[in-house]
Amino acid sequence: MTIHIGAKPGDIAETVLMPGDPYRAKWAAETFLTDVRLVNEVRGMLGYTGTWNGHKVTIQGSGMGMPSLSIYANELLRDYGAKTLIRIGSCGGMQPEVKVRDVIIAMTATTLGSPSDSIFREVNFAPCADWSLLSAATEAAKGFDVDVHVGGIYSSDTFYAERADLDEQMVRHGILGVEMEAAELYTLAARHKARALAVLTVSDHLQTGESLPSDQRERSFGDMVEIALQAAFA
Ligand code: ADE
Repeated sequence: MTIHIGAKPGDIAETVLMPGDPYRAKWAAETFLTDVRLVNEVRGMLGYTGTWNGHKVTIQGSGMGMPSLSIYANELLRDYGAKTLIRIGSCGGMQPEVKVRDVIIAMTATTLGSPSDSIFREVNFAPCADWSLLSAATEAAKGFDVDVHVGGIYSSDTFYAERADLDEQMVRHGILGVEMEAAELYTLAARHKARALAVLTVSDHLQTGESLPSDQRERSFGDMVEIALQAAFA
């Protein structure tokens, strides 16, 4: 047990999918895994371990934002020996060709600041996805009826951003979408010699103001979970 995860040693798989929302963790585990067990409910941040195609998998909520994700990813990597962490979540589209419902596979995650900044001091570390996961997810996504974009994303600290000029610079530099966790996930995976990737559904769009109705979120989320599982065990 760690401070924030109540699982016993051996309860957590080497491969962990991390949605922000703990109820998404529950839904994904019950929908895609067999022999599912609840392994964590500390602070309501639900985690489940089960089997997918003969492989042991944990699906653990990360909470919203990099400080929250950092707690769970640190404990999974340092104390439970996780080797592959895949964020499955939503993001806001930033480019005109990126539409609501599309999937973004994040090659890099730009950030204004992450919980890891204090150790890098003046260095701008470049958080990037694990190549084997990135290429496997890109390949797996071809089997789904969904438009997929591979490229850079922006990990923001604010959902309700006040700095329009920042978003403008992101758009100008080709950033596909904005979310709030991947940069810290990629940085921690690098530090612990683990693999990380973020597979994201576009739930809203910063330029068009469109957003995915809640009744359509489940299907998009399901595609993302399957892409992540196929990539993890490719
Ligand atoms: N996650 C989903 N949509 C988002 C947005 N517009 N900004 C930040 N994170 C998000």
